[in-house]
Amino acid sequence: MKKRIAIFISGRGSNMKAIVEQCQTGILKDLAEVVLVFANKQSAGGLEYANELGLATASIESKGLKRTTFDQKVLTLLSDYNLDYIVLAGYMRVLSSEFVAAYPKQIINIHPADTTQHQGLNGYDWAFEEGLETTKVTVHYVDEGLDTGTIIAQHSVDLKGAVTLEEVERRGLAVEHYFYSKTLQGIFE
Ligand code: GRF
Repeated sequence: MKKRIAIFISGRGSNMKAIVEQCQTGILKDLAEVVLVFANKQSAGGLEYANELGLATASIESKGLKRTTFDQKVLTLLSDYNLDYIVLAGYMRVLSSEFVAAYPKQIINIHPADTTQHQGLNGYDWAFEEGLETTKVTVHYVDEGLDTGTIIAQHSVDLKGAVTLEEVERRGLAVEHYFYSKTLQGIFE
């Protein structure tokens, strides 16, 4: 049985796109089905792409809501979908412990740095400012902390000769787009 997954986004959704493609025609084809793309803001660019592909989409504005109130609304929405996994892809929110407890070991995130070295926003800015010759991207289970969940896998990104932040980001995202699906493949198999 294919895993039923929801992808959570807050922005442009390039990782979401990559995962959707792998589910439709790539390495996740026999393993997973994207049954929902969810955003915490209507303006998330990735929603439009998901809609164009005919995927089910939903959004609930998180702005102004208490974390637990918002998360409860999301849990209610999700209860119709019978999900096996929630895949966070640029979802810019920390989850409440109630939310995490509702999906134990079923929520996964990608972080654009080594989570043991840098947590929170702007992982590529950090690598660039530190002048790192290599950085790492991390796929991890999600707990209620900020990028503190158990690490599932990491992949290095070669930054030698990357002299602009844009280049650092370009190289990092190129790794993320393949590595996230590859790691999910290992989890779903
Ligand atoms: C990625 O760098 C991801 O690692 C981080 O947020 C960014 C999202 O980019 N969590 P996108 O929306 O998938 O293009």
